Amino acid sequence: MTGVLTQLAANPYPLYAQLRKLPNPGPNLVSHAEVREALNHPDLVVDKLNDLRRVLPAELADGALARTLRSILAFQEGDGHRRLRRVLAKRLVGKQIDGQRDTIERFTAELLDEVGGEGDVVRELAYPLPARVISNLLGIEWSHVDKLLAWSDTLVRIMSAGTIEPATAVVWEQQMADMRDLVSQLCSDRRREPRDDLISSLLEMGDETLSFDELAANVLFMVTAGHETSTDLLASGILTLLRHPSQLAALRADPSLIDGAVEEVFRYESPLQNVGRVPRVDVTIGGRVLREGRLVNLLIGAANRDPAVFEDPDTFDITRDPNPHLGFGFGAHFCLGAGLARLEARVALPMVLARFPRLELAEHDVPWRSAPGFRGPARVPVRWT
Ligand code: HEM
Repeated sequence: MTGVLTQLAANPYPLYAQLRKLPNPGPNLVSHAEVREALNHPDLVVDKLNDLRRVLPAELADGALARTLRSILAFQEGDGHRRLRRVLAKRLVGKQIDGQRDTIERFTAELLDEVGGEGDVVRELAYPLPARVISNLLGIEWSHVDKLLAWSDTLVRIMSAGTIEPATAVVWEQQMADMRDLVSQLCSDRRREPRDDLISSLLEMGDETLSFDELAANVLFMVTAGHETSTDLLASGILTLLRHPSQLAALRADPSLIDGAVEEVFRYESPLQNVGRVPRVDVTIGGRVLREGRLVNLLIGAANRDPAVFEDPDTFDITRDPNPHLGFGFGAHFCLGAGLARLEARVALPMVLARFPRLELAEHDVPWRSAPGFRGPARVPVRWT
């Protein structure tokens, strides 16, 4: 079984191609048209949270873990979702994000100052950069970041867990309680002395102030959403460019191609390959009935390689235009961090290429992370030259 999962993690695209040929690919939506329609469908809802709450031990039904899961934006629907999304969007889209360019440049330069000889793009750049950017934006001191990243890993495990063993639930409950203590401390600090950061501004939203449950859960969720996927994107970006020398040469020759190159990485190696939805009534998509209450997998990674929409979908082409990939989702839950993720890649990738004109892979077979639904290399060994 592990062998199959490892193979799938290394290269899911042959499986997607097989699924695409089946008249009924089970609980999976595979084509671009179906995935897009499903992402935008009001009766296909984000329901992992409710699944999980059913399996939490009764004594934890109102504990830190349950409250965290209940309050995360990505698991909400309807008016509650719209209100929370509006509040968070005020600091995550538009001018607020454009202002992060200098910070991203500074952090990238600091990290690149430290590399040399043989190294690993993931460990030295792709992992620490998004973590620094999102913690800085939120206003979390560097000394707390390791703890938050560990809790964020726990959150990913919680979100992809089918059932939770009671002993594990107790450990996770304690971690979420510790996380809430830290956020509570940060909130008291910022109330006393506001700063130019997201936590301060979330505390100052007047009528739209968030409850403490909402604030704590979404601070953690933004750390999670803001670093795992961006790490994968940066690492896949460098790996894919190094594996496609003509595309890399074209980008080096004309740096104005960077925006298209970044979009093509989002399409070609989508960091989030799969998102779940549950039909709240029977729903028909692509002529198939999706039954009420049964989990459906929206295979973003497959949709982004759909030959009906993308010419030569398995070709990495940084000049592809149009490129209507679904890498950030679509519709009501469209990624709130898309602007930030794009900016990080548009700033960091050219800086790497400019500093290291002969950058090359030190190993050609790289291992891929095996977290279900995510896609990114576990390591990208390079010679920083
Ligand atoms: C490479 C980077 C990223 C990728 C590929 C990505 C992808 C996605 C996708 C596909 C969704 C939709 C999930 C669904 O429909 O169920 C999503 C939602 C979300 N993302 Fe991102 N994301 C990235 C970076 C970020 C960053 C940097 C942040 C935060 C600053 C962020 C915050 C969010 C939030 C808050 C949501 C939930 C939106 C909602 O439910 O209304 N993401 N992301």
